Amino acid sequence: MTASGRPPLMPQVVGHRGAAAVAPENTLAGFRAAAECGARWIEVDVALTADGVPVLLHDETLDRTSTGKGSIAAMRAADAARLDAGSWFSPRFAGEPLPTLEAALAEAVRLDLGLNLEIKPTPGRARETARVTCAMVRRLWPARMARPVLSSFQIDALEEALSVAAELPRGLLLEQDWPGDAASWAKEARRLGCASIHPQHRMVDAAAARTVTGDGFALAVYTVNDGARARELVALGVDTVITDKPDAILAALAA
Ligand code: G3P
Ligand code: MG
Repeated sequence: MTASGRPPLMPQVVGHRGAAAVAPENTLAGFRAAAECGARWIEVDVALTADGVPVLLHDETLDRTSTGKGSIAAMRAADAARLDAGSWFSPRFAGEPLPTLEAALAEAVRLDLGLNLEIKPTPGRARETARVTCAMVRRLWPARMARPVLSSFQIDALEEALSVAAELPRGLLLEQDWPGDAASWAKEARRLGCASIHPQHRMVDAAAARTVTGDGFALAVYTVNDGARARELVALGVDTVITDKPDAILAALAA
């Protein structure tokens, strides 16, 4: 149980983009690294190829984290499947594929890892990305495991997820340019039927944590790689810390 008596939506520590400090982000090697770090859940980013196949990728373009160039929205899945998404991080990960969501779900199930799927659409594809992601989770995710949490900064992606798969828990992601206070976060999360609110960690103070958790939402913050800061946030009432370094943060919270 959480401090407020709710059953936890996600564990206290969730690996960010897998375990982004340890292995290349949004790759299956990252899933395995996160599991080896002791993480029980991870967050990854989902976008669509030109032909509508969901894959794991953070940026709109392929350039930073793969051998590909240009927007993922302009590349067909068959071509994306030939990219190397590991060697930019370290030669140890050369040949690591850019995973499809289908492969990602299978690997998470194999490792018994829970998933926070961030819907990270390229411009103009928010609803489509949400629809495709929901359909695939419904088709492939086993009932015996906790349902993935679908989060997004894109309000229309969350609206679409609510309308096509209301049973999947949703999380409202917030950046520091969000115009209102914590009461306004909760208002928007309520309208979208969200189970959780995911602000950038510097947005959270004791009053904000009280408002969010008092209104019955789980509170997950990103991205926290410092152990002392993670302890501070948990003391404020944060339920989940999303981190590139799940091993370090688990150790800090256990100390
Ligand atoms: O979901 C938390 C976090 O991943 C949101 O920011 O840019 O790392 O996807 P970003
Ligand atoms: Mg993300």
